[in-house]
Amino acid sequence: MGFQILVLTYFLMSLVIVQHGICQRINVGTSFVQRNGTHFILNGKPHYVNGFNSYWLMIFASDPSTRFKVTSTFQQASQHGLNLGRTWAYNDGDYKALQISPGFYDENVFRALDFVISEARKYGVQLILGLVNNWPDLGGKQKYVEWARERGQTVKSEYDFFTHPVIKQYYKNHVKVVLTRKNTINGMLYKDDPTIFAWELINEPHYENDTSGKSIQNWVGEMAAYVKSIDKNHLLEIGLEGYYGETMPKKKQFNPNPNYIPSGTDFISNNQIPQIDFATIHLYPDEWLPNSNKTVINEFVDKWIESHIEDSNTILGKPIIIAEFGKSSNSSRHSIAKRNSYFRKIYKAISTSAFSGGSCAGGIFWQLLSQGMDNYGDGFQVIFENHPSTAKVIKHQSKKMSKIKIV
Ligand SMILES: *[C@@H]1O[C@H](CO)[C@@H](O)[C@H](O)[C@H]1NC(C)=O
Ligand SMILES: *[C@@H]1O[C@H](CO)[C@@H](O)[C@H](O)[C@H]1NC(C)=O
Ligand SMILES: *[C@@H]1O[C@H](CO)[C@@H](O)[C@H](O)[C@H]1NC(C)=O
Ligand SMILES: *[C@@H]1O[C@H](CO)[C@@H](O)[C@H](O)[C@H]1NC(C)=O
Repeated sequence: MGFQILVLTYFLMSLVIVQHGICQRINVGTSFVQRNGTHFILNGKPHYVNGFNSYWLMIFASDPSTRFKVTSTFQQASQHGLNLGRTWAYNDGDYKALQISPGFYDENVFRALDFVISEARKYGVQLILGLVNNWPDLGGKQKYVEWARERGQTVKSEYDFFTHPVIKQYYKNHVKVVLTRKNTINGMLYKDDPTIFAWELINEPHYENDTSGKSIQNWVGEMAAYVKSIDKNHLLEIGLEGYYGETMPKKKQFNPNPNYIPSGTDFISNNQIPQIDFATIHLYPDEWLPNSNKTVINEFVDKWIESHIEDSNTILGKPIIIAEFGKSSNSSRHSIAKRNSYFRKIYKAISTSAFSGGSCAGGIFWQLLSQGMDNYGDGFQVIFENHPSTAKVIKHQSKKMSKIKIV
């Protein structure tokens, strides 16, 4: 029953797509998104995004009984003018793993990723695909280190992920397998598929103990060159949250806590690596500045966005995307109105930069779930049916971003 309605809806949607084209729906045809200085270009025109994070798409697509959630999510995203999704092309040795062990893949899960990409294309949504996690969720860098240990390598800690030659080779192998994968649904190699907006090297890299920042700098340099040696079509970003490091120590005043143990990343020097096409920041002020009052939080948010956009305009000369932001409903003081006004604040900063010709090309909220997935929630979830006022704020931003002409 549900399935039939879905098929019918999809059929009707296709008609709408063909006849009218909603908002900024992109025709994901044969052109790749490119970069020209601080702007993205698609089919010769400046390109802006409004996006959503949905890390769970491959997992849900791998089970026939939940696969329809992937379709309905892209369908809803597209109805709200969202043209970019960010999701994971990894699940390392975890439940429903894509990579079961180094170099060994579950074909069923790979087919699920094929489905995610081919379905995104149908609904005019492009994808940022992450290649590994810093955190233990879905395996992450710790799993890579564990794999090396199990195979007799001498490893000291999870941070060996960034330096150990055997582990770096495991990662490169994963990159190669994913980029050269032939989609079983549409026959395209991933590296040739314009549905993919960009690759992301690693979600939120951290190497706390490396205060020099050299390990991650070297790792990004090596891996970025490796990705581009296989795939020159697609854009590439790192997956950074945006911490400032030693390149410009003065900027560390903008970090959530200037005395915070450095994450081992450096927003400036990491993004200056030539193969990196655009910068990202993440933004979780309530979690990063616990026990701070509203004034402090608001000032931090303004400065965090402003300083990174400014750096992207002037120092990096590359576009920037706010690749994760959200408001958790866990706090007892939470309300939907507060979340909406927070989203409006972020969206306004983005469109203000974009309308004035600046480097900020869009935002990707964390995170979109489909109806009935509440128990998958982490407090940040937006479910369009349950949060119609938030849906309206998001749709409004999509419309706004679709109207930008470079001044
Ligand atoms: C790329 O940027 C240059 C310099 O800003 C501009 O002259 C040119 O028109 C841009 N190209 C496209 C395709 O927008
Ligand atoms: C990181 O530094 C802390 C404090 O100096 C130390 O206790 C810990 O063992 C170090 N961890 C690694 C993985 O080197
Ligand atoms: C918020 O906290 C800051 C820093 O602790 C303090 O200077 C300021 O007075 C506080 N503002 C309000 C309205 O409580
Ligand atoms: C919010 O609550 C959910 C469900 O209890 C939990 O899984 C999640 O970790 C919490 N998130 C935060 C940011 O505290």
